[in-house]
Amino acid sequence: MKKIISLVLVAVMAMSCVIGLASCGGSNTASDSKTAEVKELHMATNAAFEPYEFYKNKKIVGIDPEMAQAICDKLGYKLVIDDMDFDAIITAVTTGKADFGMAGMTVTDERKKKVDFTDSYTTTTQVIIVNEKDSKVKTIDDLATATIGVQRGTTGDVYVSDLKKAKIERFNTGPDAVLALTKGKVDAVVIDGQPAKAFVKKNKGTKILSEPFAEEDYAICLAKDSKLTAEFNKALKELKKDGTLDKINAKYIKE
Ligand code: ARG
Repeated sequence: MKKIISLVLVAVMAMSCVIGLASCGGSNTASDSKTAEVKELHMATNAAFEPYEFYKNKKIVGIDPEMAQAICDKLGYKLVIDDMDFDAIITAVTTGKADFGMAGMTVTDERKKKVDFTDSYTTTTQVIIVNEKDSKVKTIDDLATATIGVQRGTTGDVYVSDLKKAKIERFNTGPDAVLALTKGKVDAVVIDGQPAKAFVKKNKGTKILSEPFAEEDYAICLAKDSKLTAEFNKALKELKKDGTLDKINAKYIKE
């Protein structure tokens, strides 16, 4: 009987080792593996935003997942990525469905009313994508009376929504907005600079107007007063200092 029990115990321990990989390190007493159980952190994102988050071989990759992984490694958490619509991310964070949101997300005063942001990890610009041929939009001013495609709930959406005479078409993803542009359904797409470059590369006949639209900072959002924010900031600082952030940026942004 004793033998059977110890056999079962060994089996259970081996199983928990497989399930919670990180708990396998170090001494393997039962109490140890209990306390060493790694807490999962769920990251809410919208993975149609190369180079920040996108699918490659059915896996979500990019600057944000790699930074998030580096932060979680440093702080001892297991990273789980949840892909969703961009305009669902903040609600996921405020309702606790996700522990943080990381999606090339711009820090804005409006969002700050609902969530806290870490220190910024990137500065970027909004740009305008148009068709190379016969574009109605040749300068920023032309946006005023154009049909403009944006990703729903993004800062691009917010900026152009101020243009009272423009017609705004809101899409679920950036690629959907760009597709509408290539089909002539919208005159321009307003979106973040780096993703715009990736979209233009994939869509012949489109280009980015040289005038940038607005400057922005990206940061990670967390629930208001979350204790994690300070931990994240500390990890971010270290990853900036030791060159990890630069290395990850250089891997995905080649200019
Ligand atoms: N920076 C913009 C914003 O925060 C767009 C972000 C879109 N991100 C994404 N993963 N689709 O509103």
